[in-house]
This record gives sequence, structure tokens and C-alpha cells, in this order.
Amino acid sequence: MRLRTLDAADVSAPKRQNRKRIRIPRVGIVGTGFVGSTTAYALLISGIAAEIVLIDQDRRRAEGHVQDLRDAELFSHHTRIFAGDLADCSSADVTIITAGVSQANSKSRLDGLWETAAILKGLVQDISRHNPHGILLIASNPVDVLTYAAWKWSGLPASRVIGSGTTLDTSRFRRRLAERYGVASANVHAYIIGEHGDSQVPVISSARIAGVPLKGFCGQLGLCDEERAIKTIANDTRAAGLEIINAKGATYYGIGSALVRIVRAILRDEEAVLTVSNLVPQSMELGELFFSLPAIINRDGVARVLSTPLNRSEQKALKTSAKAVKQYVAALDRLSLSPREMLKGV
Ligand SMILES: NC(=O)c1ccc[n+]([C@@H]2O[C@H](COP(=O)([O-])OP(=O)(O)OC[C@H]3O[C@@H](n4cnc5c(N)ncnc54)[C@H](O)[C@@H]3O)[C@@H](O)[C@H]2O)c1
Repeated sequence: MRLRTLDAADVSAPKRQNRKRIRIPRVGIVGTGFVGSTTAYALLISGIAAEIVLIDQDRRRAEGHVQDLRDAELFSHHTRIFAGDLADCSSADVTIITAGVSQANSKSRLDGLWETAAILKGLVQDISRHNPHGILLIASNPVDVLTYAAWKWSGLPASRVIGSGTTLDTSRFRRRLAERYGVASANVHAYIIGEHGDSQVPVISSARIAGVPLKGFCGQLGLCDEERAIKTIANDTRAAGLEIINAKGATYYGIGSALVRIVRAILRDEEAVLTVSNLVPQSMELGELFFSLPAIINRDGVARVLSTPLNRSEQKALKTSAKAVKQYVAALDRLSLSPREMLKGV
């Protein structure tokens, strides 16, 4: 049999005008310190973004991360990674903000708030001006206060301004419960809601393992008096971040993975339920604030915030948590970085 030789027409590249325009998923990461660079790495490994742009006031640092990440491309996914500026976020589907002061360097939470708010104010305004149709995903702390402020500063709909909230705390809680009861974390359904901080609320009353209410599951294991153990798990979850910071100065693997999980839900239009920080529904009568409740995440951002059944003490704890977040917003007002003033363009 003779092999047919290819003529020029066979080997010519497909004509450009015949190619369909394909949307390239782009993710911007602003702030390439511990959290930003880890998020970039987790994103590269996940393969869900075709383009990742890294932005930092320290351009050299961003460029260094780009070189390092490109070295991982052959072993992960073909991804266009580059260092850029805020204008490069104009076509980003999601812009993640991790700029701020490192947790280890802030003297107090309020110091951190003041410094990070001052940084975020300009960034958020610039990004939303360049990209009025994208989604902002905030990780900088205190995340609930700053996501609320970012919503006001940006003028974007609340559905497209999302804080990482208690996604990380929920994963810490689920893992601890999973370890205690000998199941995979994926089979534990339990949420941490409210503030990403000391006033966070573990929702134990509706927690389930493999579809069975937690109390009933404990009963099946012959464990009848688990209240104290579950309380310890909730306390350990609350203290987990600080424990890591005391040990190594910062936390970044957990939050990097949580951010990528949220980005995945957005880029893949998953309708995934995650405890992100978003505008609390008016029906909860807690006033205007952002904190975490289970919410459906899809291509448009937060599609719907869900109401979680709570017992009386959980309701009380959630009110206390709302109060704590609002106190920080009030502090922002006093620091003349008021989100309300920003609305007037001050
Ligand atoms: N939400 C969470 O669960 C969670 C978890 C961990 C850390 N954090 C928060 O994330 C933030 C970052 O933490 P980190 O450990 O990565 O800090 P880091 O100091 O390592 O990184 C901060 C980066 O932001 C950059 N930056 C500062 N101002 C900027 C600007 N105007 N434009 C661009 N880049 C700028 C800095 O150059 C630095 O590279 C902090 O606010 C921290 O509290 C949140």
C-alpha cells in the first residue's frame, strides 16, 4: 500500500476567521504575599484558569512568582501566567484581593483594619472601574468588614462582591468532626457561619453525617454524651488560625485552597453551596452587613443566600456576631474610610 502524501492544503493551519471565539477564563490576583502566591499555585495546579495575572505593588515580587510558577507548568497545566497591573483585571472573570498587611505584622485587629482598608479602597475602585462586569473575591482581613466596604466602594451588585468568609472555618470544622467520627470530611455537613473571626457560630443543631443528624450518628457509634467533645471541636476550629500564625507566622494553604474552591464554583457555574461572606438578607433582621451564611455560588457570583435553621442559642450567637462585625464597620467610619462617604466619592 502506498502512503498518500499530504498536499499544502492538508497541512495549512485552520483559517483564523473560521475559528470560534472562545472565552478564556482569566483570574486576577492582587497581592502576591503568602496568600496570593499560594492561591496562584493552587489555581495553576487546579487547571481551571487559562490565564492568571499577578499584581503586587512590589512588581519584582510578582514577577519572581510568575517565573517560579511557570517552572511548574510542565508538571501541571498549560496556563498563561504573567505579572501585570490593575488594568489587566479588565477582562478577569474573578479578581481575588489578598493585598494587605500580614497577620503577623499587625499590632492589633484595628491596626490591621486601618492599614488594609486604606490599601483596598483605591484598589477596589480601580478594579471595578476597569472591570464593571467581573466578580471581586476578597480575602484580606477583617474579611467581612472589608467585603462590605468593597461592595460600597465598588458600586457593584452585592452578588458580585464576595468574601472568603468562613469557607476556611467550615472546612476546619468538618475535618475535625470527620476525624472524631471516622468518616470522610465530604460526608460531614456542618457549617460555621457569621464572622470570620472570634464570634463565628458553629451550627451544630442541623449538622449531619452521611445524612444522619449528628446526635443520631453519635448514638449509632454508641457515643451518648458528645456535647463537650463537639464544643471542644468548635473551640479548636475558632482558634485554629491563631495557632498556625503562632507556629509559622501566617496561614496560606487553607485559605489558598478555599479561594480556588470559590473560583471553581464561579468559573464552572456549579451552583455550589459555600459559606462565603455576602450581604445578609433583610429577612434576618440583623441590619445591613456582610458575613457568612451558606450561599449558592454560580457564574454570576452569589445566586442566593440560604437561610439555615438555627436553635435559640445559635440565633443569639449569630446576633452577637452581627454586632461584632458592625462594630468594625463603625470603626471604619471613625477612621474616615466610611463606605458611605465613599459612595459620595470622598
Ligand atoms: N480570609 C482568610 O481566611 C485569610 C486567611 C489568611 C490571611 N488572610 C488575609 O490576607 C491578607 C494577606 O495576607 P498575607 O499573609 O498574604 O500578607 P503578605 O504581607 O504576605 O502579603 C500582602 C501582599 O500585599 C501586597 N500589597 C500591599 N499593598 C498593595 C497594593 N496597594 N497593591 C498591590 N499589592 C499590595 C504586598 O506587597 C504583599 O505582597 C491579610 O489581610 C490577611 O489577614 C485572610
